[in-house]
Amino acid sequence: MKKTVVITGANRGLGLALCQHYLLNGWAVIACCREPSLAGALSALSPAFEDLEIHALDVRDLERIHALALTLKERAVDLLISNAGVFGDAKGVSDTPNEAFMETFVVNTLAPIRLAEAFLPNLLKGQDRLLVAMSSWLGSIEDNTEGGYLPYRTTKAALNAAMKSLAIDWRPLGIKVLILHPGWVRTDMGGPKAPLSVIESVEGMVRVISDFKTLDTGAFLNYRGETLSW
Ligand SMILES: NC(=O)c1ccc[n+]([C@@H]2O[C@H](COP(=O)([O-])OP(=O)(O)OC[C@H]3O[C@@H](n4cnc5c(N)ncnc54)[C@H](OP(=O)(O)O)[C@@H]3O)[C@@H](O)[C@H]2O)c1
Repeated sequence: MKKTVVITGANRGLGLALCQHYLLNGWAVIACCREPSLAGALSALSPAFEDLEIHALDVRDLERIHALALTLKERAVDLLISNAGVFGDAKGVSDTPNEAFMETFVVNTLAPIRLAEAFLPNLLKGQDRLLVAMSSWLGSIEDNTEGGYLPYRTTKAALNAAMKSLAIDWRPLGIKVLILHPGWVRTDMGGPKAPLSVIESVEGMVRVISDFKTLDTGAFLNYRGETLSW
């Protein structure tokens, strides 16, 4: 039977490239994006891949997360990739209004937690039982030598804390959690100066994902499979 992956933020950047990779490798892909009617590059894959399903999901919308999980409740999900993320506008926090900071928190931290909770029954039906949280090296407290980017760093550090806890809580259920840094990648978020192409990052990440073992659950790894400091 085909394996199934759910990917959020699937319309561009790393999410789109991950969809392409898994479709090309024979997986069924449940691709979630804010506005399917505007997701041209994602929709363009549909004619070639009958196992691509596109669903509207703004991850800030908790009710929608649960409604989608309910729609898909009979489906086994092998892999859930919580990829949608935002950088947040400001480098510092003094010029970031509370609302903007909280929105970054909702997208980067709370939504992956809610998604994980909502899709737990699907993951339990799957074989691989793996949750991947797209984090960032910028969420590492120990490796922070340059400061700045407070909303992004804070929300990714909080994501790491939450996912580490889920990894422990879900170990008895046989569900693994991988906290993954894709590298600094040339996407809209990473910008043109990033050293890695999307293809280089995705090739590395899918290798790390497929090699990920039960014993590793809760690890914070980069796209080369190297352990990062918390
Ligand atoms: N690129 C890097 O160098 C880098 C480094 C470390 C970590 N990461 C992480 O990797 C992930 C993907 O990043 P990327 O580089 O591919 O970024 P990107 O090109 O900016 O794409 C971000 C994706 O997230 C989606 N998204 C944002 N807010 C959303 C919401 N409220 N609901 C649903 N989807 C939403 C975007 O959808 P819209 O088109 O609707 O906005 C888009 O699909 C993020 O979690 C990011 O933090 C990236």
